[in-house]
Amino acid sequence: MKALVTGGTGFIGSHVVDALLDGGDEVCVFSRRAALPDRWRQRKVELVRGDLQDPDSLGEAMAGADLLYHVGEIRNTTRAAAEKNVRAFKEAVHQMKRRGLQRVVFVSSITAAGIPATVPATEETEARQTLEDHYTQYKSLCEEALAESASQLDYVVLRLPPVYGPRSRTLGRFLRIMKRIGPLGVPFIGDGRNLAPLVHVKDAAEAICRAGTASAALQQTLHITDGVRHSWFDFLSAVAEALGKRLRIITVSPLLLRFPAGLLDLGSVIFGVRADLTDYVHFFSRDIHFDNTKARERLGWEPAYTELRPAVREMVRHYREAA
Ligand SMILES: NC(=O)c1ccc[n+]([C@@H]2O[C@H](COP(=O)([O-])OP(=O)(O)OC[C@H]3O[C@@H](n4cnc5c(N)ncnc54)[C@H](OP(=O)(O)O)[C@@H]3O)[C@@H](O)[C@H]2O)c1
Repeated sequence: MKALVTGGTGFIGSHVVDALLDGGDEVCVFSRRAALPDRWRQRKVELVRGDLQDPDSLGEAMAGADLLYHVGEIRNTTRAAAEKNVRAFKEAVHQMKRRGLQRVVFVSSITAAGIPATVPATEETEARQTLEDHYTQYKSLCEEALAESASQLDYVVLRLPPVYGPRSRTLGRFLRIMKRIGPLGVPFIGDGRNLAPLVHVKDAAEAICRAGTASAALQQTLHITDGVRHSWFDFLSAVAEALGKRLRIITVSPLLLRFPAGLLDLGSVIFGVRADLTDYVHFFSRDIHFDNTKARERLGWEPAYTELRPAVREMVRHYREAA
């Protein structure tokens, strides 16, 4: 099978490419770069140069492919970037129909499910509160575009929570900051003891690959979490421990934050850019925990990284070695 992967040079996409290659697939990576990373030099990976903002370049890359893994995105949280991502995805769907490419796996975000009314939540649980930030709106609009094309395309939507593991530039920066934490501690929205959804990048990549072929996953939206009850505090303290630090959380009350965040959001709307701070306050201070039974059953997938501390230790070792 020949898979076309957007975002294949990125954090999650590079693990998807690895997993596809390990499974014996041929892979085409759609990227703006001139060359692929060295790690794939001896493997069956082809680079197809193009830009998500140039629909024809993506359409041309579809020639000969059996399915599309849409992992890439124009990175930013501004309204302009969100609009570009929606436009690019709708164009990708249009190009698929035009060129007869039947199946797409779309990597969405768990934020599209909102803050669940009860935990553990499932794909069917009502949201107690929806999140209206630009990023979430863009993911929801792409999901809607797929649902509207359900009679013409085979699709799978995978909603990912925050993903951790090797090869993320963002996590690399975060670890460098955590290394500098002093005795005063780390400020956090709330005490960090609320439930936090997470998944290891290798488990996410395995789920994404399986979504390309699992027939029970067709036209489904699946939540790809490790299914474990852990909090932001658990994650941060596992990171601190792996770095040889002691974690102290400086609690910043979400209630106190909501007022200035609301004011800042209002002010930023007046200036044409929305900061979406209120949504971030909600996301980091409420219990969010998803049961992953539907994903396990539909994909025949089982997360391997269900113990946070050893997984985080391994991740920190990777970033140390890469530094
Ligand atoms: N990381 C997380 O915790 C997380 C959580 C939930 C959902 N997600 C979703 O997972 C997906 C991947 O996230 P990530 O963290 O792996 O992202 P990332 O590391 O920032 O990678 C972004 C990828 O998008 C590609 N890209 C960016 N702009 C492009 C353009 N104009 N044309 C073509 N390609 C472009 C980049 O390729 P080139 O630079 O090679 O062109 C790169 O491979 C995204 O859809 C994200 O919303 C991520």
